[in-house]
Amino acid sequence: MVQATPFLLVLFLALGAHGLAVKKCSLTGRWVNDLGSNMTITTVNANGVFAGSYHTAVTATSNEIKLSPLQGALQKSPNQKGQPTFGFTVNWSFSDSITVFTGQCFVDEYGKEVLKTMWLLRSHVDNIKNDWKATRVGINVFTRLQSQE
Ligand code: BTN
Repeated sequence: MVQATPFLLVLFLALGAHGLAVKKCSLTGRWVNDLGSNMTITTVNANGVFAGSYHTAVTATSNEIKLSPLQGALQKSPNQKGQPTFGFTVNWSFSDSITVFTGQCFVDEYGKEVLKTMWLLRSHVDNIKNDWKATRVGINVFTRLQSQE
């Protein structure tokens, strides 16, 4: 029993230290995706509700691209283990369309944060007969934009 105590103490400290060392993925900050689009998430509140802005590098329209607002939510359940699932909507300020993204915030094998997402882009069509061609689907991978400090 006397010999077991230091062993248990070391084991407990090792497990505790490991718990502290596991990096969590945070949505807050500036991100760039594989298309070159930029996204900034400014606020994430205690309920996981967040807001920010999105500057797309591409558009399905012939309109001039403008910065657009986004709103979303991340899962706050303890089962998320520092790699939360989330969803957000971009309400395009320069077109009639809207995009919903869903994804997960991962920490990869090098400790780098990455957002793996899928999206649905809903364009406006003039009548119900054109509904079939109104929705595009795709994936985007976001990595954190490093600050210049
Ligand atoms: C539009 O063309 O009507 C609005 C811009 C849509 C941009 C799409 S959303 C999904 C994909 N990911 C991006 O970063 N940009 C495109």
